[in-house]
Amino acid sequence: MIRLGILGSGSGSNMQAILDAIAAGTLAAEISLVLSDLPEAYILERAARADIPNAHIDCHGFKSKFPDEAQLQVAHDLKEAGVELVCLAGFMRLLRAPLLDHFPGRIINIHPSLLPDFPGLYAWTQALEAGATESGCTVHYVDSGMDTGPIIAQAAVPVLPDDSPETLHARIQIQEHRIYPEAIAEATRRLAEDSD
Ligand code: GAR
Repeated sequence: MIRLGILGSGSGSNMQAILDAIAAGTLAAEISLVLSDLPEAYILERAARADIPNAHIDCHGFKSKFPDEAQLQVAHDLKEAGVELVCLAGFMRLLRAPLLDHFPGRIINIHPSLLPDFPGLYAWTQALEAGATESGCTVHYVDSGMDTGPIIAQAAVPVLPDDSPETLHARIQIQEHRIYPEAIAEATRRLAEDSD
């Protein structure tokens, strides 16, 4: 049973999907720690309600930067909780060496577009503004780039003519909630193979 650490900045619906998959017996995992850079993020409340240890990451007043000291603290906390695979679920800061180096090949992210299209913020709005007829979501390994590492899984959705950012994001999220637990299972299999 792999121990997961989750980092998020938002509502935590992807974390909920992971919890649901664990409860349904389709994902052999447990969530050991949930961390958020935003103290008021609903993901922390969800974690608390599910009795999962959770904490706020102090980013020392920086609005979007993830300072090295904060990354080291996160790496320390994840290690102490015994985390084996780190899942970014709506986490809005870029990871760099102080954290990446502690979990080589063990940090994955979900992004709301068919990467390499539309990396960065508000990917669903980017897809609408570009006139795309298809978008979707991607789970990938995290490197120091913005939404760049090797892809594990993708799912496509149509972009409809009357879509708003909200309707398109909602359609993408249905697929996110399906593929993220599957991709975690796949990443877990690969780790087990590597250690054989
Ligand atoms: C998800 O749609 C996720 O793909 C996106 O934030 C949302 C978080 O939702 N992540 C990014 O845009 C990362 N660049 P959630 O908090 O309900 O899981």
